Amino acid sequence: MKLEVFANAAEVASRAADILEGRIKTKPDIVLGLPTGSTPVGMYRELQRRCSAGQLSFEQVRTFNLDEYYPVSPDNECSYRYFMDTNLFCGIDIKRENTHVPAGNAPDIYEECLRYDAAIEQAGGIDLQVLGVGRNGHIGFNEPDSRLASGTHLTGLTEDTVQANARFFSSADEVPRQAVTMGLGGIMKARSILLLCTGKEKHRALHKLLEGEISTDWPVTMLNMHPDVTVLCDRDAYEKLYLGIDVGGMSIKYGVVNQSGMIYRFEETTDRSSAEQLLEQMTNTCRRITKQYTIAAVGISMPGRIALDGTVNRQSNLPFKGVDVRGYIEREVGVPTTLENDANAAAWGEYMASGEKGDMLMLTLGTGIGSGIVINGRIYRGSHGHAGEFGHMITHSGGRECGCGQRGCFEKYASVAVLIDSAQQAAAENPDSILAGYMGDKANGRSFFEAVAQGCPVAEKVLDTYITELKTGIESIKSIFDPKLVVIGGGISEQKDIFFARLSEACRGVDLRQAVLGNDAGMIGAADLAMRRCSDG
Ligand code: F6R
Repeated sequence: MKLEVFANAAEVASRAADILEGRIKTKPDIVLGLPTGSTPVGMYRELQRRCSAGQLSFEQVRTFNLDEYYPVSPDNECSYRYFMDTNLFCGIDIKRENTHVPAGNAPDIYEECLRYDAAIEQAGGIDLQVLGVGRNGHIGFNEPDSRLASGTHLTGLTEDTVQANARFFSSADEVPRQAVTMGLGGIMKARSILLLCTGKEKHRALHKLLEGEISTDWPVTMLNMHPDVTVLCDRDAYEKLYLGIDVGGMSIKYGVVNQSGMIYRFEETTDRSSAEQLLEQMTNTCRRITKQYTIAAVGISMPGRIALDGTVNRQSNLPFKGVDVRGYIEREVGVPTTLENDANAAAWGEYMASGEKGDMLMLTLGTGIGSGIVINGRIYRGSHGHAGEFGHMITHSGGRECGCGQRGCFEKYASVAVLIDSAQQAAAENPDSILAGYMGDKANGRSFFEAVAQGCPVAEKVLDTYITELKTGIESIKSIFDPKLVVIGGGISEQKDIFFARLSEACRGVDLRQAVLGNDAGMIGAADLAMRRCSDG
């Protein structure tokens, strides 16, 4: 099998037209097998263009279409005969009597099937069969089944195909439930086959074929038994896909990505009732996703201390302490899986998004302070996998008590939770201030910044203290690592003028950047790490 991968569907169409043009010029009375559907439309347009330009003639060409709905009359706008007339035949110099489509209104449809196969025989058989493929792997209307018919036959459409084809009708109810199609035996008799495969929806079907499997569950895989098949596909259909999962205390985010970006995203509420429940939830969702997409590797991002061997040593928001999450998902989903601390994964995602090559640190300001370090193009983990816990760097010796057992940790002075506490305290001490009007029970970072925007001096003072604390930490980190850039993540970094600009001003000499991936950084970073580890072997 020959495989050619192109940047997009337009390039596939142009290459397909080149192949057809070459074949028609070599054998002007060639017998072509043709498909309908969205995939060949670009190629048909290109053939029409070349024909109008006098570059190509279909005068002696004979065509046989793969299939037709049943029952349907040829002049029905939804019929495949009508499709071919309007998408190809009307713009080329082919003789109408040389074009053949099964008659979907034949009084005896079984008779029609026999007649159609005989007509192909009589024409000398198909020289070049052009095919599209359904997302469930069907070719023609040969749907996944335990039995596959050989000759042209009447068949039922699967619900998946009805839904996929509903776009050509006013509703799915209008799609005929039956069709006449050339059988796989007929398709395989063609002397050569050209398969066009474009779009991410075809990814799984294409990869089933490329993996070399032969199964009636994926009719397209029968082409693995044909001696002369050329596959033209675009990157969306071809590129390997990776699944990034970001497991948070509130929600789990899943993203399917390829080299060009994210092609599918899903989010669900975290079931934290037990490790078993949560693993089952993740496994079920992963299985659903891997049914739709062929995933080369999974990357999980999760809070907690994750040792170099993947053991979760410390975790507060999820029930995974001591659980082998990576091994479990890998076993149950059957795809190589990696696990990374969420702050590291987010740092990696932002590092990749920044396009910078130099060393980078990321601080995520939230309830605590998460952080990740990228040195020499790799996440720096330290000797035990716990490096980069800047939130627990001591900035106030003997200071406030921290949940980690130490006193005076950076996050006890510079997290957003601390900022809100300080604002609430200042509001209580200054009940007549503008700030007091904003800091009710449900107040959050946004309420605080609204008070600052109103010019409240009390709020200004709280912000000044907060920025000084952050500056202390950031400058200490800078003296140790001298990074090229420091990325600030967390919702607070979106307060561009009121917060981020001031922090940048305070930390002159440090290239501070706002995070760009928002809440998806961990998921995207995890998927990218999975991709890299997969290609590193
Ligand atoms: C239609 C045919 C089908 C299509 C397939 C893909 O004649 O043979 O097998 O090739 O359903 O359809 P599109 O190209 O619309 O995705």
